[in-house]
Amino acid sequence: MEKRIDPWGLDEVEDYRNLFDEFGIESFERFREKLSDNRYIRRGIVFGHRDFGRIMQSIEEKKRFAMMTGLMPSGRFHFGHKMVAEQIIYYQKLGAEIFLCSADLEAYLMRGISPQDSRRIALEEYLTNYVALGLTDEVNFWYQTDYVLPYYQLRDMLSAKVTFNELKGIYGELSTGKILSVLTQAADILHPQLLSFGGPRATVVPVGADQDPHLRLTRDLASRFQAEFKFVLPSSTYHKFMRGLQGGKMSSSDPRSYIALTDEPMEAKEKVMRAKTGGRATAEEQKKMGGVPEDCMVYDLLLYHLIDDDSELEKVYGDCRSGSLICGECKKKCAELVVDFLREHQKKREKAKAVVERILEKKVTQ
Ligand code: TRP
Ligand code: SF4
Repeated sequence: MEKRIDPWGLDEVEDYRNLFDEFGIESFERFREKLSDNRYIRRGIVFGHRDFGRIMQSIEEKKRFAMMTGLMPSGRFHFGHKMVAEQIIYYQKLGAEIFLCSADLEAYLMRGISPQDSRRIALEEYLTNYVALGLTDEVNFWYQTDYVLPYYQLRDMLSAKVTFNELKGIYGELSTGKILSVLTQAADILHPQLLSFGGPRATVVPVGADQDPHLRLTRDLASRFQAEFKFVLPSSTYHKFMRGLQGGKMSSSDPRSYIALTDEPMEAKEKVMRAKTGGRATAEEQKKMGGVPEDCMVYDLLLYHLIDDDSELEKVYGDCRSGSLICGECKKKCAELVVDFLREHQKKREKAKAVVERILEKKVTQ
């Protein structure tokens, strides 16, 4: 069977290298040094891109550019989502205009989540945490189900230049809901370039690799609508997913697989203490053979989130490998960092509410 990435599937993206050969995603390596103040970029967690050169150039030449991404309001906001939030905040600090949507239409069509639930989740979980993590109110935020006419007009027009077979080639089995979801997502990504939203300009879309089919389609559509809109083909970056605390997928439907940013700190501590590690069966063996940080969910937490200082992280890595660090001790240290982070963050959430209000007041609708 032909290889596909399924944005709604349960598979993990197993082999990131495949994405380069098979789908033409390029390595992010050459931008790593220039943007090394971002932890996810510095550590290769953002591993791939399409056309990011355009964005790099905009940053360096201080030209206008936009960042657009969408959030799937499907449950509690956890450390996996934090990674996306911090990339958005990073681009905001670099001067990008921020376009952020709640994918409540997709949530309804593909997951049966009611628009009311989506709304609550988008506000209480996503926006409040984004702001507590550092997002300012300089944001254009919208719901896919409640936005302005030019956006819907664009979405409808897009359908004129893509065939059913083409969509099948990209997404496999289709449903009416899927088709509407993907066209809506293309409009999410392209509408900031309509004249009433600032006109054609470079746009970066930071996403997980599972979203690449949408980017491929959107870029094709952008080139087919040159005569009408002069779209600049959107750029994208791809990050690796955090694995769940028990190994396997981190999933909103399994609370043991993630730490939510609103988890009770003591509950989060317990989750860390029960996480899957790369340690050996006995302390004895571990001292002799060392652990395997690559297979360790505790190490993932440190790498993605909790230790920003590279030399400090390298020390954990080395000590784990050599066997001088044992898992009990290491987990305890990690749990303390989680508890400290959550306490601090949850205080910031309280203060975030006023900023979220302002973002909503600015929201443009009909
Ligand atoms: N499909 C995305 C998800 O499942 C959400 C989304 C909607 C999105 N519109 C977008 C992502 C535009 C990037 C750009 O998470
Ligand atoms: Fe993981 Fe730490 Fe154990 Fe190494 S020592 S396997 S990093 S918990």
